Parts: sequence; C-alpha cells; structure tokens
Amino acid sequence: MTTLLILFHSQEYGNTAAMAEAIAEGARAAGAEVTLVNTNETRMDIEAYRRFDAVAFGTPDYYSYIAGGLKMFLDDWYIARKTNPEGLENKPYGLFFSHGTGGRARGPFEELFRRMGTQVGETVDVIRAPDEAALAACRELGRQLAGAA
Ligand SMILES: Cc1cc2nc3c(=O)[nH]c(=O)nc-3n(C[C@H](O)[C@H](O)[C@H](O)COP(=O)(O)O)c2cc1C
Repeated sequence: MTTLLILFHSQEYGNTAAMAEAIAEGARAAGAEVTLVNTNETRMDIEAYRRFDAVAFGTPDYYSYIAGGLKMFLDDWYIARKTNPEGLENKPYGLFFSHGTGGRARGPFEELFRRMGTQVGETVDVIRAPDEAALAACRELGRQLAGAA
C-alpha cells in the first residue's frame, strides 16, 4: 500500500486545506494510506518525512511566494539532506496551490520543489476556494499519486 503525505499550509480561509482533503479522498479511494499535515498547526518532522512513498505539497500564495510553514520544511529538508539524503530525494510528488488574483507564487513553488523528485500530473492552480472542477482535479491528483510510488 502506498503511503502518501499531504504536506500543506492553510490559514486564511481553509482554501488550501479543502484541496488537501480532496487529494486525500482521491488517494484513499485508490488504496493509499494518507497522512495530512498542515504547517500552520505543526512543524513537519523531517525524520518522519523520509518514510513516505509519495508526497503532495500545497501552499497559498503569500506575497508571490510560498507560505512560511512550507518554507520552513524546505529549510529543514536542505539541512537534513547534507548529513543523510536517504528518503529525502527522488520521491514522486504533486503540487497544488490557492491564490488571489495574482498567483505569481506558482513559478517559485514549482522551481523550489523540483528537487524533491519527479512531479506527478500538473500543478493544481485555484483562485481562492476550489469549485467542483478544482476538487475533481485534486481527487485525480490523489489517485495518480496513489499509483506513482
Ligand atoms: C499574508 C497574505 C499574503 C497574500 N499574498 C498574495 C499574493 O501575493 N498573491 C495572491 O494571488 N494572493 C495572495 N494572498 C491570498 C491567498 O493566497 C488566498 O486568499 C488563499 O486562497 C488563502 O489560502 P488558505 O485559505 O488556504 O490560507 C495572500 C494572503 C495572505 C494572508
């Protein structure tokens, strides 16, 4: 059974969290074991991160960049990898993000997470709250990630 981590930041309205839940739904329906972590509630344990088969990363656009909680994960990842890269590289991963009318975080988001492994599917890009079509795209991403590891 694929273990999927959905690591995201959601704080303002819960828009990114709604997308994370839809990805979880799609992945569970495809047989994956899913863990959701919101960096607004806790710091991701980098040692626990090593053990997941696949990951979905989600962020709102904050000042045309990724949210601070997700940036903290990246900093932890970079430093941990120097001493022991096991389980920190070459994972299949998916990306999803929510934004206002700007959405310029998409560029840095995709660029920063490229080093995590191989991207599965397209980045799911939503203005504010996800509508039914966006939730369906999230469920599909979850299904693909469940089969990617
Ligand atoms: C501090 C802050 C900065 C933001 N900066 C941007 C921005 O530069 N561009 C943009 O399109 N949206 C921006 N937004 C809007 C959020 O990306 C948007 O409301 C998002 O859906 C919030 O997701 P959440 O409800 O999961 O926290 C910003 C919101 C906050 C709180």
